[in-house]
Amino acid sequence: MTPTPTLATPVADVTPADAAFVAVNYITCEPDYRERYEQLFASRAHAIDRMPGFHHMHVLRPSADGQPYLVVSYWASEADFKAWMGSPEFLEGHKRGFDDIRRAKEEGRTPPMTSQFQTYAVISR
Ligand code: HEM
Repeated sequence: MTPTPTLATPVADVTPADAAFVAVNYITCEPDYRERYEQLFASRAHAIDRMPGFHHMHVLRPSADGQPYLVVSYWASEADFKAWMGSPEFLEGHKRGFDDIRRAKEEGRTPPMTSQFQTYAVISR
């Protein structure tokens, strides 16, 4: 029987059916940053993989120009997602992207990307 997910549920014990909470980050990149953005994800930190309740994630490239990339992460619960947002793993997983933004600001350039997130409950499969 599948164990009930809790904050302490190890990642390996969270089955697809347990992923009840989804966070979607919408990232709009400056056109000349898209290649770098995709490279960052090709070599991402995977720090999130250590978080209890994290199930899996997808990064979706938009088919149409000017539309945002989607970073879709699946969680056992909202509490697990919030714990990651406040964790050292969140900063570890964002080090290079946040550095790029900070550098652009310091040099008076337009930030290479902007981010907005929404959260969702899974209501059907
Ligand atoms: C200013 C806000 C944010 C920006 C600019 C941003 C951008 C990025 C970039 C460029 C990466 C690639 C890794 C790297 O930096 O080397 C990354 C990783 C990631 N981002 Fe964000 N992000 C932001 C906030 C968020 C939020 C709020 C979420 C969730 C709703 C999210 C979800 C993820 C995930 C799941 C990863 C992979 C982390 C890992 O491998 O450990 N991001 N993000």
